[in-house]
Amino acid sequence: MNKIFIYSSIDGQTLKICQKLKGKFDNSQIRNLDNMKEGELKNFDQIIIGAAVRYGDHNKKIYDFIKKNKAILEIKKTVFFSVNATARKEDKNDPLTNPYIQKFLKKTNWKPNKINVFAGRINFPEYGFIDKYIIKLIMWITNGPTDTTKSHEFTNWEMVEEFSKEIESF
Ligand SMILES: Cc1cc2nc3c(=O)[nH]c(=O)nc-3n(C[C@H](O)[C@H](O)[C@H](O)COP(=O)(O)O)c2cc1C
Repeated sequence: MNKIFIYSSIDGQTLKICQKLKGKFDNSQIRNLDNMKEGELKNFDQIIIGAAVRYGDHNKKIYDFIKKNKAILEIKKTVFFSVNATARKEDKNDPLTNPYIQKFLKKTNWKPNKINVFAGRINFPEYGFIDKYIIKLIMWITNGPTDTTKSHEFTNWEMVEEFSKEIESF
């Protein structure tokens, strides 16, 4: 199986998850969405797309990409996963309960063969002043960590590894 992992990430956690999912698969590569060339998807058997959430939604570029490549995505083996902080909550860490996955599926009207959601990372020290305080406020409202001197990783790497095995064999 010839696989491509395509990621849309700002702070790197979605890329890190792609790297873990890819593991030691032969015949696979990881690519930034921004470096995808037109018509390239036909060269792959399995297409895995991972996208981060920022201020309520995934990047517009991911929606444009899916719209443009819908026909080819429909005939390939496909996976979509979202990375967001809300998925740290037990009642929002499943594709059926995570609001960003539901929003994504509604907006794209695309049915990937496999869908998943992973909790990301809040890396306060790397954020600019405004983001830092907005995210701190959101964390405070949602009972999350508010120590802005630290990075808080919520990703459950065992879940990522399990999903990697699922991807390998389908
Ligand atoms: C500016 C900013 C806005 C964010 N907005 C949301 C949000 O609306 N909902 C959410 O669940 N997580 C939100 N997050 C958390 C990110 O989804 C999380 O940090 C994720 O790991 C980012 O992925 P990336 O490192 O691949 O960019 C936000 C993070 C930042 C820095």
